[in-house]
Amino acid sequence: MRLCELLVASFLPWLAFSSPMNIIPPPANEVCLDDSSIPTVSTTLNIDLPMRDSASSIEKKDLPVFFFHGLTGNSTEGFNYQANLTAEGRVFVPLAFLREVVTNDERFANGYIFIGHSQGAMMARAVIEQMDDHKVHAFVSLAGGVNGIFYGPQEADRNSIKNLGAGFGAAVLPQQLFDFTGYTPEAYRGKMQADFVRRSMDPKLQAAYSITNLLRSPVRDVWLKTNQFLPMINNVNTCAWFDFHCHLEKIRRKNNFLKLKEAHYFASPDDGVVSPWQGSLLGHYSEVNSFGELESKFESLTVVEIHDTIEYKEDTYGLRTLDERGGLFRYTAPGVPHCCWMYDFPKFHTDGLCEFHPLFDKYVYKVLW
Ligand SMILES: *[C@@H]1O[C@H](CO)[C@@H](O)[C@H](O)[C@H]1NC(C)=O
Ligand SMILES: *[C@@H]1O[C@H](CO)[C@@H](O)[C@H](O)[C@H]1NC(C)=O
Repeated sequence: MRLCELLVASFLPWLAFSSPMNIIPPPANEVCLDDSSIPTVSTTLNIDLPMRDSASSIEKKDLPVFFFHGLTGNSTEGFNYQANLTAEGRVFVPLAFLREVVTNDERFANGYIFIGHSQGAMMARAVIEQMDDHKVHAFVSLAGGVNGIFYGPQEADRNSIKNLGAGFGAAVLPQQLFDFTGYTPEAYRGKMQADFVRRSMDPKLQAAYSITNLLRSPVRDVWLKTNQFLPMINNVNTCAWFDFHCHLEKIRRKNNFLKLKEAHYFASPDDGVVSPWQGSLLGHYSEVNSFGELESKFESLTVVEIHDTIEYKEDTYGLRTLDERGGLFRYTAPGVPHCCWMYDFPKFHTDGLCEFHPLFDKYVYKVLW
């Protein structure tokens, strides 16, 4: 029954469906957003709130919260967070943008929290590493694309892959640049992926389309050499020994990351958009040596779990240190589609609705206190 034709969209946020329940009416081709489902939310700060007494010791529950939306979203998407947290007297800022907000406003002086959804979580982490004067106390990643994406062989990636050809692909990368519709289902098992990785090596695409920066090619050399973003944020980019600046930048990013007191990563095997979903818990697909192997060994790619990644083992950007001092938390929530971290959303595999409020209550709210 019933339910919907879930035309799931692939990747970060995007989905088109029609459901008899119609909590959220059929959108255009956004994974998460559509006009009628999202109340108009003022993006101005709740400036009327009294300033807290900053002399007293500040607890996490008093800290302001920033919300980073995902690839196809906008700042109104955090409306459920805004409603709950402002009702409790907290300062909530759906981004757009930051330094203007935090300087000259005493309410941010003792720190704040970043919440990022989907690509927004990757952006939030990049800000944490790049902003030398940040005071982010806790980072909360909701179904974050925080360790790159790759459409691999595991069954859980099928939902995401299905809709690359059904509109999502063209929405994130124009069809004349890469045609996701030009592949048979068999070709979606390695051939498309190898072509997509090759195409994403183009610096012009790297500069213009975030999907190519988020792509984590299992051909490691290629990924390190051609991805302008993710290797750098993961601090695994290659620095020539004499490149003093490059080495200093790594130290700076790691120091900035380690100003965090806590990082919380939430993910669900039923996400349906982030591939692999384990990337939201800082895993990634295993690696191969060449494009040829990417195709011939595609089916044997497996997910490398966080503790086996170079980023963690070599503590490239501070993850292991954060873990060792008790500040790294990861949560797997069953049955949560990508957008349910923000509002009610139909489930991908079964009938029924994933409801935001119970999920918020069980997982996210607790870490904001
Ligand atoms: C955010 O997206 C909604 C739904 O697509 C749209 O109605 C609204 O105008 C957008 N707001 C901004 C600030 O872009
Ligand atoms: C905010 O959400 C939490 C967790 O679901 C709930 O316990 C609390 O009552 C909510 N606060 C308001 C003001 O709605």
